[in-house]
Amino acid sequence: MQLPAFKLERYFAQYEFKVQYVLCASDCESFSIQDLLAFEPDAAERFQRHWLGYTQSQGSPSLQREICNLYDHIAPQQVLVHTGAEEAIFLFMHAALDAADHIIVHWPCYQSLFEVARSIGCQVTLWQAREANGWSLDPAELQQCLRPNTKAVIINTPHNPTGYLMRPDAFHEIARFCRDKGIILFSDEVYRESEYRRQDRLPAACDLGAHTVSLGVLSKTYGLAGLRIGWIATQNTEIYGRMAALKDYTTICNSAPSEFLAELALRHRQKLAVRNRKIIADNLDLLDPFFARHTERLAWQRPRAGSIGFPHLIGQDVDDFCQNLLENTGVLLLPGTLYADQGNHFRIGFGRRNFPDGLARLEEFLAS
Ligand SMILES: Cc1ncc(COP(=O)(O)O)c(C=O)c1O
Repeated sequence: MQLPAFKLERYFAQYEFKVQYVLCASDCESFSIQDLLAFEPDAAERFQRHWLGYTQSQGSPSLQREICNLYDHIAPQQVLVHTGAEEAIFLFMHAALDAADHIIVHWPCYQSLFEVARSIGCQVTLWQAREANGWSLDPAELQQCLRPNTKAVIINTPHNPTGYLMRPDAFHEIARFCRDKGIILFSDEVYRESEYRRQDRLPAACDLGAHTVSLGVLSKTYGLAGLRIGWIATQNTEIYGRMAALKDYTTICNSAPSEFLAELALRHRQKLAVRNRKIIADNLDLLDPFFARHTERLAWQRPRAGSIGFPHLIGQDVDDFCQNLLENTGVLLLPGTLYADQGNHFRIGFGRRNFPDGLARLEEFLAS
């Protein structure tokens, strides 16, 4: 297994905790432990008494039960809790794929969604999202990407980095295609419940049959990245079993305090999501006129979900732009080249409370 550097994560490792304004964060505003404990009168005391021994490898049964509330047809034993979504991606790829396999991946994408498969030796076909079509994927192109050895299709919606939320008909068509061809659909749903309108929320892939795996996490919509609690939900017992067995070689089990807090947070997840969707909505109220004022320099497809977008920078190299912005203002944007994107885009993140200050700096920079 040969894994190249994860470009986006290396970039964040260099800058995230040094710069003044992270204007490209993928997650929403976080909460403190105190905030979470305040949701229930006896939670602080229970947390103090929480046992710090090893935990159950698949996740505590009560946490599994709480995660099930996100789905319609998933039982607790079909949820496998991981250390973040990242561990789940790594283990899924190793559990489901071997070197003779081919996969089709929604592109551009979070690097591990294709890189882990490539490191196993798989052939990877990149399924291009089209900016001209609002960053949508064309389900008709799936047939062209298909090979006799295609094992899995990997999608991510709401999408990092474009913010694209798939239409239900396309989502169902992809799920049907995978089922009919005997292909696994791995659906990265880490931004689920961040849709701006409730009626736009897609069903979870795992509710559509045993050929699917849904990926969830507390990091993005709920703003709890520091808990490092993610999960997969699947009706596929074979994949579940293989992932559970591989987990013995990575983390064995999850952090006990994190599991306690994750369960508590999930019981109150609507409050977390409502607050964060409000922050997003307020920031979008600033972003809409901002983009309207800068149509000669910037163009964007306004997302319908999530806390990130992928604007197009006009007339200047995006790497130079982001570097100059950082040096002159302390504002961090993420150049699309870190996703191997060649369309001169950058990622902007608008799920944090200090977004207005960073945006004001960006606007001053554009005017200078
Ligand atoms: C689409 C997507 N999937 C998975 C992950 C990994 O999530 P986590 O950092 O919570 O492990 C990220 C993180 O940025 C992401 O954007």
